[in-house]
Amino acid sequence: MKGVTVVDHPLVQHKLTLMRKKDTSTKSFRELLREIGALLCYEVTRDLPVELVEIETPLQVMQAPQLAGKKLVFAPVLRSGMGMLDGMLELAPAARVAHIGLYRDPATLNCVEYYFKAPADLAERVVVVVDPMLATGNTAIAAVDRLLEAGARQIRMACLLASPEGVSKFHGHHPDVPVWTAAVDERLNDHGYILPGLGDAGDRMYGTR
Ligand code: URA
Repeated sequence: MKGVTVVDHPLVQHKLTLMRKKDTSTKSFRELLREIGALLCYEVTRDLPVELVEIETPLQVMQAPQLAGKKLVFAPVLRSGMGMLDGMLELAPAARVAHIGLYRDPATLNCVEYYFKAPADLAERVVVVVDPMLATGNTAIAAVDRLLEAGARQIRMACLLASPEGVSKFHGHHPDVPVWTAAVDERLNDHGYILPGLGDAGDRMYGTR
């Protein structure tokens, strides 16, 4: 699938299988989501530019690589995006965070914004939208629309699971935004849930129903 990287690392796939199981506890689900957040972050940031700087080791001076440019921005979509954020921040602790509050109207499946707070200099940073489920694609499209409106220019999308329908709708609107995911599942059901999927990520993270 063009513009989609499936992170098929065995650790990611193993953790995802545990998350899919209906009897996995809220505690384990939350821990696994954080861990996969870190592993996806590793892949999403694989091509970030580095520059050489002069440092001194205890033995000699050397030219060593460090990340170039401004720090990243992680943009979790509330509420389930928060479940991946801490894992990502463990790998990139200096990253900024933009919170995007969007909910899916259960009747229309359309997105409604209720909160948005982002760093002012989005234009100079790589922004990673974080949402575990790329299902209908509507939330991801609305999140990227809002970030573009706020000035973001380099946007990437990190999710745990995607549907083929969601990816194709998302790339219909935002063909230049690459997606990283642990799996692209079979399809959406009539209620906009991913099959076989893992259920409602927010409910499983927080033990709500
Ligand atoms: N959101 C979820 O939490 N799960 C799905 O399957 C689809 C959207």
